[in-house]
Amino acid sequence: KCNCRIGPSVLASDMSCLASETQRVVDAGADYVHLDVMDGHFVPNITMGAPVIKCLRKHSKAFFDLHMMVSKPEQWVDDMADAGGDQFTFHLESTADPMALIRQIRAKNMKVGVAIKPNTPAESVEYLVPHVDMVLVMTVEPGFGGQKFMAHMMPKVEHLRTKFPEMDIEVDGGVGVGATIDACAKAGANMIVAGSSVYNAADPAAVIRQLRESVER
Ligand code: DX5
Ligand code: ZN
Repeated sequence: KCNCRIGPSVLASDMSCLASETQRVVDAGADYVHLDVMDGHFVPNITMGAPVIKCLRKHSKAFFDLHMMVSKPEQWVDDMADAGGDQFTFHLESTADPMALIRQIRAKNMKVGVAIKPNTPAESVEYLVPHVDMVLVMTVEPGFGGQKFMAHMMPKVEHLRTKFPEMDIEVDGGVGVGATIDACAKAGANMIVAGSSVYNAADPAAVIRQLRESVER
């Protein structure tokens, strides 16, 4: 059946209370937690690093999908594995040798995701698909939560879904209940990151349920 999963992004939470904010969405039905790691260089913002994730790991058994928006992903593989990362999602644009990075991540027993920014074509990741667990098609420019969903990214999702019927395809940025999740579902995404739409909701459980229903229907 539908292997749809919903992963709230804690970037939209009150990050001074990361443990309880993570627990809050797990209790609300989240399948995994999406942690946005930004280094102020690959993207114009700084969020959290391995020390913070290591602390959060002590409070949560959730699956941690680490979205690595950093210029030197190779530098952080060991630290992120030791901190308790379950999946290391790197940006294709951030590395000269994706295959070496994938081997490095695998050696640390993490799952591998590869992300592409809005200006990166879907075709450019195809050769990596046999070697990764997931492709992330960004639906905003990485760097900030709360941005507007780019509907014109959907042809990239459709293209990848058509070519790779079984692959996990994640979308991230501006996704919420209504037109945006419907577009992602129609295009074939099955892993849904949602930051502000979940954390700013009066009833996060209802939002997570509705996102899931939109993908499953
Ligand atoms: C943006 C991050 C996203 C962001 C999503 O660079 O990768 O994960 O937190 O937040 P929303 O859902 O608010 O766009
Ligand atoms: Zn993200």
